[in-house]
Amino acid sequence: MNIHVAARTEHREPSPADPAFARDAISGLSQQPKKLPPKYFYDETGSNLFEEITRLPEYYPTRTELGILRERGSEIAATIPHHAALVEFGAGATTKARLLLAHHRVGAYVPVDISGAFLNRQTAALRRDYPGLAVHPLVADFTCPFTLPEGIAKLPKAGFFPGSTIGNFEPEEARAFLETARKILGPGAVFVIGVDLEKDDRILQAAYDDDAGVTSRFNKNILSRINRELDGDFDLARFSHRAIYNHDAHRIEMHLVSQGAQTVHLARQGFSFRAGESIHTESSYKYSVTRFQELARRAGWTPDRVWSDERDMFSVHALRAGRA
Ligand code: AVI
Repeated sequence: MNIHVAARTEHREPSPADPAFARDAISGLSQQPKKLPPKYFYDETGSNLFEEITRLPEYYPTRTELGILRERGSEIAATIPHHAALVEFGAGATTKARLLLAHHRVGAYVPVDISGAFLNRQTAALRRDYPGLAVHPLVADFTCPFTLPEGIAKLPKAGFFPGSTIGNFEPEEARAFLETARKILGPGAVFVIGVDLEKDDRILQAAYDDDAGVTSRFNKNILSRINRELDGDFDLARFSHRAIYNHDAHRIEMHLVSQGAQTVHLARQGFSFRAGESIHTESSYKYSVTRFQELARRAGWTPDRVWSDERDMFSVHALRAGRA
C-alpha cells in the first residue's frame, strides 16, 4: 500500500542501500506506463519541500483545513466522546490535533508514526504544553493493523487523519485503510478525517504546478534520491514536471516527462525512455462529499457530520463505527 504521511525530516528515510527502495524503483520503472511510489518523496529534502508547498499561495489544502479546524473546532470536537483516546494516524507535527485538544478534554492522545525519533520530540513538546494530558506515542506503520496501547483499553476511541493524505491512496487502498482503522479503533469509535474536494481544474492545476516551481522540485527530488541512494544517473534537466487533472479518475496526477529519448541507469540496470514518455509519481484523489461518504460506508463507517469552508474547497468528516 502506498503511504504518504505529513512530511517531516528523517521520516521513512531508507538507508542508502534500502532494498525496498531499490526493489520498488526497479519494479516501477520496468512497468508500462512507468511509475514510482510517492512515499519515496519524503526524505529530508522532500519533507522540507513539502513544508514549503503547504505555505504556497496556490496550495490551498493545508490552510483551508486549518481554517475549518480553527473555525469549527468546537463542533468537530463535540463529536468526540467525553474522555476519549484521540488516536492520530501519521501524527505529523500535531498542529492540527492541538486545534481539537483546545476544545476537548480527551482522556489520552495517541500519536501513531513510523518514526520513533520524531514521535519522541512531538511527545515531549505535548507533555510540556499539556501537562495533564496522557500521551501514549506508538511507533507503527499506520496503514497496517496495529494494537492500541493497553493504557487506553477502557477509553472510548476517536481516530484523527487530517491533511487529505487519504487522497494519495488508490480508492481501494483508501477503503482498506478505512476498514483497518475501524477495526483498530473498535466498535462505537468516531473518525475525524480531512478530505480534499473536487473543484475547478484550474485551481487544482495551479496547486500542483505552482509558479515558484516548488512542486516541480518536490517531484524531481525523487530522481535526486535515486541518484544518491541507488547509484542512479538521472539528469534532472532532462525531465520536466507535469500536473494533469484526470477527470474520469477524479485525481490530479504528477508526472516526470522525459525531454527526449534517453537511457537512465540505477542499481546497475538500464531504463530506456522515449521522448515525451512519463513516470507517474503521484495521484492525489479528490472526492465529492457523497463519493467520500459512499467510500466510508463501504468500509463499515456511518457518515455523521461534515464541515467545509465557504468555497467548498476542503471537507472534514466525522464518521461513526457501528456497535456490531
Ligand atoms: C501529502 N499529500 C496530501 C499531498 C497532496 O496534496 O496530495 C502531497 C502533494 N503532492 C504535491 N503537492 C502536495
